[in-house]
Amino acid sequence: MTVKTALITGITGQDGSYLAELLLGKGYVVHGVVRRASTFNTQRVEHLYRDPHDPEARLFLHYGDLTDGTRIAGLLERLQPDEVYHLAAQSHVRVSFDEPLFTGDSTGLGTTRLLEAIRATGLPCRFYQASSSEMFGASPPPQHEETPFHPRSPYGVAKVYAYWATRNYREAYGMYAVNGILFNHESPRRGPTFVTRKVAMAAARIKAGLQDVVYLGNLDARRDWGYAAEYVEGMWRMLQQDGPDDYVVATGVSYSVRDFVEHCFAHVGLDWRDHVLFDERYLRPAEVDDLVGDASKAARVLGWQPTVRAPELARLMVDAETAALTPALATPVGMPTTSPVSATSPLLELA
Ligand code: NAP
Ligand code: GDD
Repeated sequence: MTVKTALITGITGQDGSYLAELLLGKGYVVHGVVRRASTFNTQRVEHLYRDPHDPEARLFLHYGDLTDGTRIAGLLERLQPDEVYHLAAQSHVRVSFDEPLFTGDSTGLGTTRLLEAIRATGLPCRFYQASSSEMFGASPPPQHEETPFHPRSPYGVAKVYAYWATRNYREAYGMYAVNGILFNHESPRRGPTFVTRKVAMAAARIKAGLQDVVYLGNLDARRDWGYAAEYVEGMWRMLQQDGPDDYVVATGVSYSVRDFVEHCFAHVGLDWRDHVLFDERYLRPAEVDDLVGDASKAARVLGWQPTVRAPELARLMVDAETAALTPALATPVGMPTTSPVSATSPLLELA
């Protein structure tokens, strides 16, 4: 059987780490693009990494940045992947209001840099674009593949551009290029400034007596929150079909931010109203009020279905934070406790 090769941009992010695990488990050789930082940013994949001199090594990391199209093209030409999962982006909605140009360049144009590199090199690979429910923005729920886009942030606008770039390369050049339109998905590996992880961390720390309060913004917004580990399976399935298409991936149920907060605090026996304060800095200039995905096409065509809903997600995220605060269980949050976490960072091998 031929071993497949995948290239993942954004491998150091939440989804990249779960997808790398999934693909390695399926026997793939996985190459990941890592941007250079002055600190190590590979914590989420360290448990998967082996010394590249080890004949068993199947995960390889390469420096690269979405804003550097020449580097991206060079990597594609050299690595010749069968499947490209384009997950890298400036992914924070609030930050996109502070950095709209960088967000447009990385999250929007970054996708065209990859697509154009694939076209120019003539690589017959399959391409996955990490599209987002944020593209629907103000369009009322439930949202599905045919719902009009009405983005409400520079991030959403950039993702709409990238969505259409992906469709355009599919239609113009016959590329196998798909959009996975994923609704919010979370996990213990979520970045700590997204609301679910921020609240889960706060609930565990307040329970442990390490802080008293947490400051939040809009508690009325509703999101369709699923579990990231399940969503990467949907990405992979999209690239295993006879032809390219676009799919919504969601749970079909929404909860308010307030609901999620309540579930987290109740799980550690606290009343959230005693510990949550408002700070307007966490409000956005324009908000997305209500996201509820209709993933019936993914269920029908891909056979993909979620099992974890927001209340269970809240509990598992708070449990992970609590375990991380317990010295006997101390493992970096989100990392499997049984995994062979290496003592050194993979980046030591690269420089
Ligand atoms: P994440 O945790 O923020 O990860 C983003 C990844 O992109 C990180 O590896 C980051 O590197 C990398 N990156 C950022 N800017 C880059 C640049 N200029 N060059 C190269 N790499 C860069 O995001 P995620 O939650 O895993 O989401 C993965 C993708 O799905 C993103 O495109 C996101 O917009 C999209 N999406 C996410 C959700 C969700 O709910 N999670 C829903 C819909 C769509 P560092 O580690 O160095 O920061
Ligand atoms: N981050 C954050 N911090 N959000 C807060 C806070 C806070 O202190 N207080 C309230 N919120 C509200 C936000 O206003 C928003 O309505 C909701 O919580 C969710 O915010 P985030 O967790 O930051 O996620 P997001 O929905 O804006 O964006 C995420 O989901 C998108 C898919 O719909 C990101 O992962 C995007 O990359 C992704 O595309």
